Amino acid sequence: DKGTYPFYMLKEVDEQPNVMRKLAQTYLSEHGEPQIDDKLIKAMQAADRLYIIGAGTSYHAGLVGKRLFERLAHIPTEVHVSSEFAYEQPMLADKPFFIFLTQSGETADSREVLVNVNDAGYPSLTITNVQNSTLSREASYTLLLHAGPEIAVASTKAYTAQIALEAILAKALGEVNGQIVAQNFNIRQQLGLVATGMQAIVDEKAKIEDLANNYLMKSNRAFYIGRGIDHAVSLEAALKLKEISYVQAEGFASGELKHGTIALIEKDTPVIGFITQAKTAGLTRSNLQETMARGAKTMTIVREGLAIDGDTLVLPDVDEMLMPLLTVVPAQLLAYYTSLNKGLDVDKPRNLAKSVTVE
Ligand code: F6R
Repeated sequence: DKGTYPFYMLKEVDEQPNVMRKLAQTYLSEHGEPQIDDKLIKAMQAADRLYIIGAGTSYHAGLVGKRLFERLAHIPTEVHVSSEFAYEQPMLADKPFFIFLTQSGETADSREVLVNVNDAGYPSLTITNVQNSTLSREASYTLLLHAGPEIAVASTKAYTAQIALEAILAKALGEVNGQIVAQNFNIRQQLGLVATGMQAIVDEKAKIEDLANNYLMKSNRAFYIGRGIDHAVSLEAALKLKEISYVQAEGFASGELKHGTIALIEKDTPVIGFITQAKTAGLTRSNLQETMARGAKTMTIVREGLAIDGDTLVLPDVDEMLMPLLTVVPAQLLAYYTSLNKGLDVDKPRNLAKSVTVE
């Protein structure tokens, strides 16, 4: 039931702070230590490489997960689009471990990969929102997202839940692997900060709606740019905008723009830069300048610690690794308000189904 909300999507965006708290309650002890099935951790520890498999938004959550597993658990991690992996499997490591990210647990493209993985006898984990779903039943292990039903076709809370659960799992694995970064990573405190930060962002809806009206309503194209983990979020931000507002949007590695795509920038093309990583903040700012010099209408979405005068939206600070959990929220809302104010059916965009059960 969507209660007083006009659309499920907005309700589900608003639920995200609670989803973060629910995951912390479910998967962390009183003292903030991850509580994950020992057998699962042992199976992952035995692997020499992780393979994250997903489609659409779940694939994008995997791109963030890769950073978390590599930084916290120090285990090489690859991320693959399921429909590609199923028919062109890359060369595998000696002891692969597969992680399936799927909100519905029913995505046919992802299931096709799992069938092959099971035939080859490799261990696997499904991270899903739906208990007893096909991918949950067929994988060696399951972790549930506990995000509550996601009804809007555009996935929001499942994306942030997947990232938060990947962080908990990476912390657990990193600790048993003796990784100092993992030991020092206070996941409970961080998820608490994330929940508070998300709340602060969803409380700024009026401002974000104005930005959607000023930047995105009048253009049929837009760019989201960033580097590293910000690039990963830019892909998700662009997907949200495309699927519900029909603006042709591209998520782009900001340094790569000047190698060709900047030719598309003309007067008033919206370019939205994500700046949350200290190491690359200055670089992304210069890339934004390059687009501005060619007439782009630029917006910055920046972490507080890196903010300067004139930034458009300043997000609360959490650990840089977890910034995607906050960065994505204004992007979800920008897509929402663009769709809403165009009078579109936000929850049921054309040509799309909630779960894609054909390959
Ligand atoms: C985008 C969206 C889709 C799904 C994709 C995978 O908002 O919802 O891209 O993320 O179809 O679905 P699941 O996660 O159910 O496997």
